[in-house]
Amino acid sequence: MKVHVANHPLISHKLTVLRDERTDSPTFRLLVEELVTLLAYEATREVRTKTVKIKTPVTETTGLKMAEPRPVVVPILRAGLGMLEGMVKLLPTAQVGFLGMVRDEETLKATTYANRLPEDLSGRQCFILDPMLATGGTLVMAIDYLIERGANEITAICLLAAPEGIKVLEDQFKDSGVPITLVTGSLDEKLNEKGYIVPGLGDAGDRLYGVV
Ligand code: URA
Repeated sequence: MKVHVANHPLISHKLTVLRDERTDSPTFRLLVEELVTLLAYEATREVRTKTVKIKTPVTETTGLKMAEPRPVVVPILRAGLGMLEGMVKLLPTAQVGFLGMVRDEETLKATTYANRLPEDLSGRQCFILDPMLATGGTLVMAIDYLIERGANEITAICLLAAPEGIKVLEDQFKDSGVPITLVTGSLDEKLNEKGYIVPGLGDAGDRLYGVV
């Protein structure tokens, strides 16, 4: 698995404001959107293109356009929904699938309550949006769903990642034969006993949308 930790002062600045417990939900949502657009710029570096001929007002030339089939973007509900706008700003023609997953706060195990993915993902580049890579349980399930449907390149975009979660993904998918990349804004220190990322930013869903 390739792991790319973004190293950019604007990303660090925005993450610091996100982490601050005083940041309110409207500001948090705006910052998540901006951060995802910045991370998406890195995450889409390998997006497939084709050569096309065009005419500028001056001359004929060749250029690159995104190839078909278009990439698929999969936000993991609830918190990944806060990342969707920032992603489709950069990839407006991407197809969007949804996965609804919830983590049991006692066992830290993920369960799926909604699955709206295209049946056939053969040959598709897929981008999973999940703000927090903590234990890795949710991402492992999400990646498994995509591989089952034939995805042949998967990139997870996470605002923060814990070393424990990265190790779980690496172990789980080392023999999958599907290239998997993680693009994250920060590699944090560890998980605490409740499975929260440290220093982290708390519960991303609650910070985005309020406590339910
Ligand atoms: N999910 C969150 O929202 N925050 C964490 O720190 C870990 C998992």
